[in-house]
Amino acid sequence: MTAVDELRMNRPIWFEGDVPPEKVPEKYRLERAFIPKARFLDPEFLDLELNRMFMKTWQIACRVEELRDVGCFVEYEIGRFSILLVRESKTEIRAYHNACRHRGTRLARGRGRVGSLICPFHGWRWNLDGSIRLVLDREEFVPRSDDDLGLVRVRVEQWAGFVFVNLDPEAKPLLEYLDPIPRIFEPFQLENFRYRWGKGVVVPCNWKTALDAFLEAYHVAGTHPQLFRLDRTNDKIASLRELDLRPWAPTTVYERHAHYSALGPKSTADKAAGKDPSKRSNDGKSDERLTVANAVQYLHEDMRGLENERSWRAAEALKTAEVPDGMTAGKYFLQLYRELSLAEGYDWPVISPEQWTEAGSAWNVFPNSIILPGQGSVFWYRSRPLDNDPNKALFEVFSLDQVPIAEYDEKRAFEPQYFDDYRDADMGQVFSQDFANMKEVTVGMHSPSFDGHRLSEEQEMTIWNHHRVADRYIWTD
Ligand code: FES
Ligand SMILES: [Fe+2]
Repeated sequence: MTAVDELRMNRPIWFEGDVPPEKVPEKYRLERAFIPKARFLDPEFLDLELNRMFMKTWQIACRVEELRDVGCFVEYEIGRFSILLVRESKTEIRAYHNACRHRGTRLARGRGRVGSLICPFHGWRWNLDGSIRLVLDREEFVPRSDDDLGLVRVRVEQWAGFVFVNLDPEAKPLLEYLDPIPRIFEPFQLENFRYRWGKGVVVPCNWKTALDAFLEAYHVAGTHPQLFRLDRTNDKIASLRELDLRPWAPTTVYERHAHYSALGPKSTADKAAGKDPSKRSNDGKSDERLTVANAVQYLHEDMRGLENERSWRAAEALKTAEVPDGMTAGKYFLQLYRELSLAEGYDWPVISPEQWTEAGSAWNVFPNSIILPGQGSVFWYRSRPLDNDPNKALFEVFSLDQVPIAEYDEKRAFEPQYFDDYRDADMGQVFSQDFANMKEVTVGMHSPSFDGHRLSEEQEMTIWNHHRVADRYIWTD
């Protein structure tokens, strides 16, 4: 049995420790490849997610590079809660509940750099290690220990340049929680990546609907028809003939996390190959070099991520290159990209075909992030509920690039941008198509005729899996 046949076997399954379905109220109960709509639309369900699931899970709060210097801070908000991440010393990052010990005022907003944390209301001060530094007129207060006045810590741990927080003091260690992601992502060396850009968009849908838009590739034929064509400006709906070339992207679920793996056209998917960029192929009729080069260049130009300026140049060279005998255009492209990268001072992590197969295309890092692995460039997406409204979310896209070896310790400027409407965010064609769906899904879900998502058991189990895992947090103590 090949690795991918095994993926196909990986149907919705239950793991040890899952909540028996009968323990879940009927309106929220999962069925085989079916998710009732109340899990998206009910304010009560959002409360359960916020009070139980988000209180007990590790979530990516920021990247280490945002906390480079002592005193740098970043705020991470989830639901009603605000958490402050602070670089306390060269070697330590801390996280605190972002609440003054006097009357509760939020201490800091957004991001910045400070010498000490100062409450904007009456000016109490804390050292970066959370210890109390100044209580104005302290003699007027009931005597309290410094411990009682210190900032309350939140669990914080790191993996691959990501800083995670967990509001549950009893939570198991991050690396255990992330399993098997750290092992599978190891060859990509994400710790050597830095932000290229980041944009956050307010979306009129449930936070999971925004996430789900990027958790399967089954929608590509319907939503992104231009991807079938050399002329990417033609976004007319795909013809039935074009649909023959639709990509196939089976999903795989683990105990907590899940991913899909885009394997090329369903009709000819090389099931043993997995997702291996050197095996990129086309219909066999057109110039394979152009197919490969176009795919790379379009990602760089339109999505501004997953590919980069170096892979764009390698693709440009590929268009007119003599592809050596016995080599595919995809393989030769990778060789050109590698040579270029090494010549320009980049490390070139070696990723074996088996490692590509395991890594796949996009992972739901449970609960609210997605990471798309890539050679030299990756995407990280994050979705969060907004304003306690099940139909409103903040969805963020971060594009990250591997940097040259000489720049691993260099300071880089980064400021994410935020928009109230994706149409103002200049997100390119592909992202705009995805964002456009989110509202339509939500309007349709509210229809009395609609009861829930009916999912493909091969290509959409990432979405179903998320709910199975959520139930473990929501319905167990
Ligand atoms: S509320 Fe913070 S100092 Fe008074
Ligand atoms: Fe999409």
